[in-house]
Amino acid sequence: MLTRDLISVEAGSDPADSRPPDQAPSEFACDLTAALASRPRSISPKYFYDAVGSQLFDRICELPEYYPTRTELRILESNAREIAAQMGPHAEIVEFGAGSLRKVRLLLDAMKQPARYLPIDISAEHLSLSVVALQRDYPGLQVQPVIADYTQRLRLPAPLPGAGRRVGFFPGSTIGNFTPGEALHFLRAAGQELRGGALLLGADLVKDPAVLHAAYNDAQGVTAAFNLNLLARANRELGTRFVLEQFDHSAFYNAPLQRIEMHLVSRLRQTVAFGGASYEFDEGEALHTENSYKFTIAGLHALAQRAGFRPGPVWTDPDRLFSVHWLHAPD
Ligand code: AVJ
Repeated sequence: MLTRDLISVEAGSDPADSRPPDQAPSEFACDLTAALASRPRSISPKYFYDAVGSQLFDRICELPEYYPTRTELRILESNAREIAAQMGPHAEIVEFGAGSLRKVRLLLDAMKQPARYLPIDISAEHLSLSVVALQRDYPGLQVQPVIADYTQRLRLPAPLPGAGRRVGFFPGSTIGNFTPGEALHFLRAAGQELRGGALLLGADLVKDPAVLHAAYNDAQGVTAAFNLNLLARANRELGTRFVLEQFDHSAFYNAPLQRIEMHLVSRLRQTVAFGGASYEFDEGEALHTENSYKFTIAGLHALAQRAGFRPGPVWTDPDRLFSVHWLHAPD
């Protein structure tokens, strides 16, 4: 099983050696300390995405049980002309958290002379590699990468002279990782950046909990490995000695809160040392690693309206698994 392979690969490395002793604690170290010191324990899902975690996420997207990625791609593909018509001529696309730049290609292919593409990503290295590949395939396109954390206040370049609408693109239901309050805050800020334009937003839909459960508990154990990679990453980068076999992947649908929750659950009573302190896990005690909120179309519209957007067309798949929304930004 994949989880086991991952453990054996990492067991031999000595992560403490790779970090200079005089270096200030990283944001990951600070957040992990805070997570271990509080009850119930929780940490941001952003720490899943080191190089290993990003590869595991790419494998999740290919799993038969994980419907969101392929469903959203199909929705974008089937409705690309209509979406491009909403954008109008010479639009500028601003992508929040640009990743591999696979989805935006479907939009660019359907658009009439996009004025510019501005992918925003926190990882300069990852983004510049993706941008080089994109430029090869779209030699005429102006690409302006923005290295920034899109959850913080952004300073986007002014629109190009003669450019059309500025359209935000936030696919993948990444908005589901935010709490409702954070989502509202993000949308309000995005609305200011996109004034007079629009936001094209992907949102996973509320559905049969069995379908959701399968998507986050795949048979091959890739999602389990992705979740456990948070501890493996801490072992690699921070020199912790989490024993991965002593934690279970747990993912379940919390119906009243409309979200999948992922946790790492201690299989036994154990103590973890970190930063000169030691932290006890009781048997069954968990570290909460992710929320993935699911939406109804009406709920998403209500949220968007509270943030100042005016809901436009919604595109879904025949099984209503996933939704893509056109939201008009405030003027
Ligand atoms: C990238 C946040 C949309 O919530 O489905 C996949 C991450 N977590 N499997 C999601 C994820 C477990 C994914 N998002």
